[in-house]
Amino acid sequence: MAWKTLDEMDLAGKVVLVRVDINVPVENGVVTDATRIEKIVPTLKDIIAEGGKPVLLAHFGRPKGKVVPEMSLKPLVPVLAEKLGCTVKFAEDCVGGPAKAAVAALGTGEVLLLENTRFHAGEEKNDPELSAAMAALGEVYVNDAFSAAHRAHSSTEGIAHILPAAAGRLMEAELKALEAALGDPVRPVTAVVGGAKVSTKLDLLGNLVSKVDNLVIGGGMANTFLVAQGIDVGKSLAEREMAETAREIMTKAVNAGCRIVLPKDVVVAREFKAGAESETVAADACPADAMILDAGPEAVAEISKVFDESKTLIWNGPLGAFEIAPFDTATNAAAQKAAALTKAGLLTSVAGGGDTVAALNKAGVAADFSYISTAGGAFLEWMEGKELPGVAALMK
Ligand code: 3PG
Repeated sequence: MAWKTLDEMDLAGKVVLVRVDINVPVENGVVTDATRIEKIVPTLKDIIAEGGKPVLLAHFGRPKGKVVPEMSLKPLVPVLAEKLGCTVKFAEDCVGGPAKAAVAALGTGEVLLLENTRFHAGEEKNDPELSAAMAALGEVYVNDAFSAAHRAHSSTEGIAHILPAAAGRLMEAELKALEAALGDPVRPVTAVVGGAKVSTKLDLLGNLVSKVDNLVIGGGMANTFLVAQGIDVGKSLAEREMAETAREIMTKAVNAGCRIVLPKDVVVAREFKAGAESETVAADACPADAMILDAGPEAVAEISKVFDESKTLIWNGPLGAFEIAPFDTATNAAAQKAAALTKAGLLTSVAGGGDTVAALNKAGVAADFSYISTAGGAFLEWMEGKELPGVAALMK
């Protein structure tokens, strides 16, 4: 691999600065999804087992360079301690006196969490002085925050150039899974891209058509592609001004030998609410007063067939309005098909992005996918083919 791993680092007796992403959802002071915390446990346990002392650098929310008490990382200490099964200490600042004192007092087998790096304006500016102040706290730097690697910040990028740097276990797993899905995949490769808007995923679609064999387009963005083919989609969500761009993407796909799969039938309704009366019609027969809210059974059958013929699948975005039944039907069915093929050893399936993971969890199949990324924005930027600064800084 082009990056160093924990196995190549001498950690014994060293203070190891670990960039983690514990930007977890919190409601009324309670962590509602601890996945990101659970995923960093192997890295921290391995560092401790090697005799290193983990000191965590992390952000929380977007305080924009100011101390915002509601965005303190302190409330996460008990959750971290519970998941790690060790003492987790906290320092009120990520650099300077409080941080130095806390590092000095850190015992073997303990973990230290430093306060939100984004309380310093220098963090998002990748300020060399802040990077140096962070680096001064430890001897080794480990980045385990793939999901923050699209940010060129002091704690994700700058510091990696100052200290000996390596990827943590989670970073390693993410990079390996993503490489298997899009870097050097077993073909045929199919990408599922859904979600509301073409405009937010233009770069992603443009990059994918030159890399994958099949591109299944779902959700609101499929409507824009239908409009681009001269189809009337009634009151459906569609970016009519993006029709020309959608046509360009389709031409690029034809030239690259990528097959674009659009729904041949759709589920339409007059209201967007749970249990709304709905009907299935051909994709070019959406009534003028109705909106497309899901792909139909014929579309699902076609997608399933494409999955059957694929060896690798990369998924970002739901196929319909999955939050509301019955418009989650196509997403659930396609997710279950992908999960079954994966379980049977016939498909490598990788998914990422906030909505996608929520949709796969709702379908009850997330655990059966080969890999579910913890990343949102970073996963999208990676799918767009962009270099992620936090990853690039780890390259040997
Ligand atoms: C995320 O939640 O996707 C990461 O923690 C990055 O957060 P950001 O978009 O605020 O940089």
